[in-house]
Amino acid sequence: MKHFPRCDATTAWAALGGHYQAHGRDLDLREAFARDPARFERFSFEAPELFCDLSKNRLDAATLRFLADLARECGVEAWRDAMLAGEKINLTEGRAVLHTALRAPPGAAPFSDEVHAGREAMLAFAESVRARAGDVAKPLRHVVNIGIGGSDLGPQMAVAALAPFAEPRLGMHFVSNVDGHDIASVLSRVAPAETLFVVASKTFTTQETMANAATAKAWFLAGGGSEADVAAHFVAATTNVEAAARFGIATTFGFRDWVGGRYSLWSAIGLPIAIAVGAAGFRELLAGARAMDEHFASAPVEKNLPMLLGLVDVWYRNFHGFASRSVAPYHHGLKRLPAYLQQLEMESNGKRVDREGRALPYATSPVVWGEPGTNGQHAYFQMLHQGTETIPVEFILVKQADARAGSSAAVRDALASQQRMLLANGLAQAQALMQGQKSAEPHRDFPGNRPSTTLVLDRLTPQSLGALIALYEHRVFTAGAVWGIDSFDQWGVELGKTLGGRLLPLIDGGLADGAGLDASTAGLLQRLRS
Ligand code: F6P
Repeated sequence: MKHFPRCDATTAWAALGGHYQAHGRDLDLREAFARDPARFERFSFEAPELFCDLSKNRLDAATLRFLADLARECGVEAWRDAMLAGEKINLTEGRAVLHTALRAPPGAAPFSDEVHAGREAMLAFAESVRARAGDVAKPLRHVVNIGIGGSDLGPQMAVAALAPFAEPRLGMHFVSNVDGHDIASVLSRVAPAETLFVVASKTFTTQETMANAATAKAWFLAGGGSEADVAAHFVAATTNVEAAARFGIATTFGFRDWVGGRYSLWSAIGLPIAIAVGAAGFRELLAGARAMDEHFASAPVEKNLPMLLGLVDVWYRNFHGFASRSVAPYHHGLKRLPAYLQQLEMESNGKRVDREGRALPYATSPVVWGEPGTNGQHAYFQMLHQGTETIPVEFILVKQADARAGSSAAVRDALASQQRMLLANGLAQAQALMQGQKSAEPHRDFPGNRPSTTLVLDRLTPQSLGALIALYEHRVFTAGAVWGIDSFDQWGVELGKTLGGRLLPLIDGGLADGAGLDASTAGLLQRLRS
């Protein structure tokens, strides 16, 4: 890979600094719209399945020009091409990053034959599970996914989003937490003979997943199942086929180490999605992501929506100093999207050193958080409107409700009329954040000029969801490439795991005067034991 300068050593970074001082810091959105009647058209963009309005952001044409220069100077396009070609851009783990290969057309990406064969096996199995739901004598009624992090958040988010497309006879459940209350709650609602467990773990070593899988197996055996039945009621999605076999699992869907956990819903980890929406639905999800991949791979920076979003993230984080971004999906099916994005963005770009290990003098990942609209409006929007921090908000609006979500004519009518309220609320919040409201009474005064981005989907379908997720993946990639970090490792989660392992035996006893522990940890341990 050619050497590119660190972002803060580029000409564009210096230009952006000057531009921020001269125009960016004090840019008033209301004045910007008054000055430029074409502002909306100028700063709105099309990408596969999506429309994006950036016009309510604190930027102008020069900002986008400098940001595009920044992307080029930092080699974002070269790093993108290297990723797509299968080069080992995950330097600290010595791995390629090829989740895009999982949705590429045949022959168009590395490992094509292997990917195709693995997907066909997984989709055939998903169809067989769906068929078992219709078995009159011994119907399958429940699928329980046991996994955590990327082996939970993506599939769980997508299954919730695509509920109107799902096989209605199958209950889809997700267990992730090592807290036994999580699995206890699910097991109290299902019966062994009617349940399929999917043990989803890239490594098949993750403590939470192994503990929950062992509990599920013990419950299954205690409920009358035999060891032979385990093979029919437990399957695995993992890169560690041997460990799954040792657990007693006969059916394993594999994938490779070049699929990062938080990028894995397109792989065998997507099995619950495929079970819910079927092979055709899963293929549509992949097709939506593929369309976004093609846009990301070919559109010039100035029109490349994932790149633009990632660059605006850099603009806000490093020049405006905004420390967080709130995501407000105005579709209840996207209720798990903020949690999914927290891992995608913060595990990818929450890094304090560059690819070579040098400490960074500038900020990286913002805090990403949110709730579906309109719920968030009645919780934290107060702070967005009148708090002391400026927090850019990302609205996701979906034009049409899905009539399939309605179980009767009355509910379908309500879906349509409540959809109008939903959209009006989303639009109104973005408008209020920007406009503000002058009042002589300070408590009623809204300063306004608060930035927001609005993404619009026509409908929430497997295809549009695929495009939306891929948009976020490539946006995170873009910001990470500008910051010069390895967006694909996650060493920061290891220390807590190691210390957790050391503390585990001390929870029940055996602590010699708190030896080796800081006073706080030792004190808390005593408190928990007494
Ligand atoms: O601890 C972080 C992490 O490694 C994530 O990156 C990953 O998605 C999650 O744990 C689960 O890992 P696995 O799929 O190997 O169980």
